[in-house]
Amino acid sequence: MTTTATGARTATTGTTPGPRGLDAERVSWSVGGRLILDGVDATAPAGAVSGLLGPNGSGKSTLLRVLAGVQPPSDAGARVAFDDADLLGLGRRKRARVLALVEQEASTDLPLTVLDAVLLGRIPHRSLLAGDSDADRAVAHRALATVGMTAFAEREVTTLSGGERQRVHMARALAQEPALILLDEPTNHLDVAAQLDALRTLRALAEDGVTVLAALHDLNLAAQTCDHVVLLSEGRVVAAGDVRDVLVPDVLDPVYGVRTEVLTHPRTGRPVLSFELPG
Ligand SMILES: Nc1ncnc2c1ncn2[C@@H]1O[C@H](COP(=O)(O)OP(=O)(O)O)[C@@H](O)[C@H]1O
Ligand SMILES: [Mg+2]
Repeated sequence: MTTTATGARTATTGTTPGPRGLDAERVSWSVGGRLILDGVDATAPAGAVSGLLGPNGSGKSTLLRVLAGVQPPSDAGARVAFDDADLLGLGRRKRARVLALVEQEASTDLPLTVLDAVLLGRIPHRSLLAGDSDADRAVAHRALATVGMTAFAEREVTTLSGGERQRVHMARALAQEPALILLDEPTNHLDVAAQLDALRTLRALAEDGVTVLAALHDLNLAAQTCDHVVLLSEGRVVAAGDVRDVLVPDVLDPVYGVRTEVLTHPRTGRPVLSFELPG
């Protein structure tokens, strides 16, 4: 690896760069003179589930949108690399072959069937004028099966419950066959079994080598699932690393204004958190 004068990273001649995952540096975003993200550095290792944590309004959704190229960073010094590709420099179509974003409230629910909505995920992979191929439909059906929505393939998306819709958005992202998947609170609207199922899907993706970064507001779900976490507070990264190092009282208490107790799960050895208000 070398870093050029412009900050672009290039592979050193003669070496084969392995998967490196996501590496963002100096990401800032402001609106109306207010700095919402203030020089965020964040990584998500390849083949791992990373959690983007932080209180309401800390900038999680904004960061995911900037990483996904939906909104440009407001500072020219920002750099977002994925496996040595410069994500911010990629065109929209190329970027959509690399990364999928599952937004929290996807408001663009068109009058489409579930299968057609999932097939939208195939668009970046085929020529502009081509229709869906059998292979595209097979990928879409596999994605629906993964999220447990096969029986809903012919339903109109607009008739689905919030949780069902959430799964369709996840299936659309899976059909995109991304190497990097960014998800904004993917367990919102889901009951506890469906939450665990969604997180199991993310773990399976990571085991297949996909880089997963999910904004999660439930710290216990993060403790149970994530390999790596990035904790935001007021648009800045306050801690990042292994869940066992970040999800500790000294880090969490000042950020969330609570008193945290950390227990250890008797079977998995992972942290289990309990919270109280101070005083
Ligand atoms: N387009 C926007 N215009 C004005 N304020 C915004 C905009 N987008 C985000 N914000 C503000 O930025 C802060 C971070 O928002 P967000 O990224 O949604 O946080 P989180 O996802 O962590 O709850 C919030 O205070 C929010 O009101
Ligand atoms: Mg959010």
